Amino acid sequence: MQTATAEALSNIAFIKYWGNRDQALRLPQNPSLSMNLAGLKTVTTVAFDAALPHDLISINGSVATGAAAARVVRHLDLVRSMARLTVRARVDSRNTFPSGAGIASSASGFAALTVAATSAAGLELSPEALSALARRGSGSASRSVPGGFTEWQMGGSPTGDDSFAVSIAPPEYWDLVDVIAVLSAAHKATGSTEGHGLADTSPFQAARVAGAPARLTACRAALLSRDFSAFATVVEDDAVAMHAVMMTSRPPLLYWQPLTVAIIHAVPAWRADGLPVCFTIDAGPNVHCLTLSTHVAEVERRLRALGVADILIAPPGGPASIIRDF
Ligand code: DP6
Repeated sequence: MQTATAEALSNIAFIKYWGNRDQALRLPQNPSLSMNLAGLKTVTTVAFDAALPHDLISINGSVATGAAAARVVRHLDLVRSMARLTVRARVDSRNTFPSGAGIASSASGFAALTVAATSAAGLELSPEALSALARRGSGSASRSVPGGFTEWQMGGSPTGDDSFAVSIAPPEYWDLVDVIAVLSAAHKATGSTEGHGLADTSPFQAARVAGAPARLTACRAALLSRDFSAFATVVEDDAVAMHAVMMTSRPPLLYWQPLTVAIIHAVPAWRADGLPVCFTIDAGPNVHCLTLSTHVAEVERRLRALGVADILIAPPGGPASIIRDF
């Protein structure tokens, strides 16, 4: 029996991935840029075991079935074909963050699964190959393989081998903190995978994609020069562009709740008052408020005054890795 355990962090995109040019290979229509979220972690153990008649998958202590299990089995099949293995696996995956809190567990989940399964299968892959493989499970998982602030390049090869994420700065490069207003623990009505498939039904997707490389260049420059004001503008622009596409897809995807809107009214006003904070939103109602470490308490206080009860705080975090003691 060959066993390995890996951990990986969730991430928050500053420049969003939305829409694929190849849905099966998860090749994106635009490059994206994100920050790994320390503390929002998945720990996954994979054990290949010749005695197993089929893959056994446990997620947060419950046996996974249906589409969730099938997605993991498909990913294990990719690893098995690379390693020329036929043996089945036992997978135990646990999140350290509340599941269903609207925090993407597919990014940390498929990054941890990729690192654990390839190691248990005896494969020695480069960090780039690990990221490209994680991408096949969940696009955003490619960005959770390297550490800190990471950029997922679109790549140009039809196989997708050159579509992977790389670290552009280590976690300690900038003391950004994600103060997450958790507004709903309900399961998303339409998940990201289905949403990517709808992106091209919006008349605004082509314009969003056309502008993404310039926004990414501006975001990378703002990050590398630690220019919060330039960073805030481009991060909010990019998030709103993605939600404009979502809202104008057929069927439309409207993830915002009343409190989401209250926060996105408030945050730019707080910034105009001198508080360094900006917002971004993924495929759900939660608002990620990005600020600098010295202002976390003030952002949290103001969010609570708006009526936000649940808040998660995540500074930048490291790469996916094999863990030996856990
Ligand atoms: C809105 O990576 O979750 O969070 O590849 O189908 O698993 P799949 O989609 P996923 O999409 C992420 C969408 C997003 C934006 C982002 O993280 O870039």
